[in-house]
Amino acid sequence: MCGIVGYLGTHQAAPLLLEGLGRLEHRGYDSAGVAVLGPSGIRVAKRAGRVRDLREALPKRFAGKVGIGHTRWATHGPANDVNAHPHSDSKELVAVVHNGIIDNAAALRDDLTEAGVDLVSDTDTEVLAHLVALSEADTLEGKVAEALGRIHGTYGVAVVHVDFPDRIVVARNGSPLIIGVGDKEMHIASDLAALVRYTTTVAHLADGEMATVTPTGFTTYRLDASGLAATNRRAKTVDVDPAAYDPGEHESFMHKEILEQPASAGRVLRGRLNGRFATGHLGGLNMDARELRAIRRVKILGCGSAYYVGEMGATLIEELARIPADAEAASEFRYRNPIIEPDTLYVAVSQSGETIDTLLAVQEVRRKGGYVIGLVNVVGSAIAREADGGIYLHAGPEVAVASTKALTNMFLGFAMLALQLGRVRDLSIADGRRLIAGLESLPGKIEEVLATEERLVAVAERLAAAESLFFVGRVRGFPVAREGAQKFKEISYRHAEAYQTSELKHGPLALISPDVPTIAIVPLDELVERNVAALHEIAARGGPLVVVTHEEVDLQGLEAERIVVPRAERELDPILLTIPLQLLAYHAAKQLGHDIDKPRNLAKSVTVE
Ligand code: AGP
Repeated sequence: MCGIVGYLGTHQAAPLLLEGLGRLEHRGYDSAGVAVLGPSGIRVAKRAGRVRDLREALPKRFAGKVGIGHTRWATHGPANDVNAHPHSDSKELVAVVHNGIIDNAAALRDDLTEAGVDLVSDTDTEVLAHLVALSEADTLEGKVAEALGRIHGTYGVAVVHVDFPDRIVVARNGSPLIIGVGDKEMHIASDLAALVRYTTTVAHLADGEMATVTPTGFTTYRLDASGLAATNRRAKTVDVDPAAYDPGEHESFMHKEILEQPASAGRVLRGRLNGRFATGHLGGLNMDARELRAIRRVKILGCGSAYYVGEMGATLIEELARIPADAEAASEFRYRNPIIEPDTLYVAVSQSGETIDTLLAVQEVRRKGGYVIGLVNVVGSAIAREADGGIYLHAGPEVAVASTKALTNMFLGFAMLALQLGRVRDLSIADGRRLIAGLESLPGKIEEVLATEERLVAVAERLAAAESLFFVGRVRGFPVAREGAQKFKEISYRHAEAYQTSELKHGPLALISPDVPTIAIVPLDELVERNVAALHEIAARGGPLVVVTHEEVDLQGLEAERIVVPRAERELDPILLTIPLQLLAYHAAKQLGHDIDKPRNLAKSVTVE
């Protein structure tokens, strides 16, 4: 969602800020703005629309070597020029950019209005600008601390002030804030993507931390009731390849990330399979064999695609470890006052590690004394820090809004967890070995699926013509269908609905017609005959069919487009059945001419409830 950038150094700030904002576009936004501190004070430019609209609207004279910028995702008030960030006070002493939500903004607006302040926008952030400007503290740090002391809510915030032209003060509570140390310059961003081109030496602020950033360095403090206590945070060099934030020769990040899957799947498995004992080797769980054996239930929490892969994970855990397991939308979990059981393992799944609904679910479980592990891609993210243990996904940076390679690694993380849980119970050494061999073969088999892309283009182009589609599957195949429908609707904007194949005759069959294609997931498993019979019912009603299946499956003369994937061990089949659905969604969206990496109304990390 919203993004923050900042710059202090020897160059003009505006072009660098705009470049940084461009690299945050994938996070989702509806307006953008920059403020620079120059010889004539603070200058602000902001616009509803894209970063390119802002670039075009920028005044010729916009000089300043210190500046902040923002991409806004509207929460308080519509997406227009006035509501875009940065926000200033009436005398333009201050400019503020802010990610997050100020929960008591309405009360603070009333207080400010009563004090004679003229509020010009509908936003919660504007109150922060006025509070900083009105503070009588002597330092900018003191003013920001005083203002933040009055607000309730979440924030990543960056503030400039005309009386303190050598610095930007930043603070974090629930929204990421990163400081980058460059060569005679400093960068600020809410996401590594914005600054990795300039530096990989970075410091991630912790919640409740604040920092003063000058062109030559930074100092960190903890914000507490007694004032500001130094935290002496140091920058560290992170192991990230700047090329991961570049689409290279690919038309989109999504396509690049789909094709990266053989390599990224290999990374998540590396060093985590123990051939000698035929088990998983997940040291990050921070649990010994006795603790793993004591688990009586597994509850998986995630949102969107992470929730659907959580359903695949629950099936893996039930099948391999025979522990009752289920997945639930993290966005709903907290609101039903969940019963937290001591012998349940809670698993939070999140690519970004910043999804607010998943983070709040983790906090709710831990507050009630539950044990939570995270399956997270972004190292050091909020969920990774909050959890008691976890499995990093090592998918590398995922830029496209539609998750692909991270999702595949989530599945593999679950498979290794299920294997390890199974092997401290009744899963035999032979089955353990069978699964390890299956897991090790997956990168190569993913490669085989990707090699069929050209054929899938034609199928996708036909599907793109339909206004409405069904994705169906059973048991292991149903979460695959849900994920397939999710990917399709996200980027093609077609109505794609997932159903259990077995449920079709209880209602949705009424919608089947020649205009409504069905994409059916039919692995060679114990349900294959029933699945095929249900598809014949669809065909009999004129419904076009695309069947994602295995070579050996006999479709009994069914008239259907057949997409064949290689077989893995049956428990691992879901991930190979998922990959063609990514390509179908991608090529359908491409055919429709959509902006694939930045689908409308969606954000890469959903950081507000
Ligand atoms: C996936 O394609 C979606 N963009 C979305 O459903 C995503 O999986 C969800 O928002 C959760 O994100 P997270 O993995 O970063 O927590």
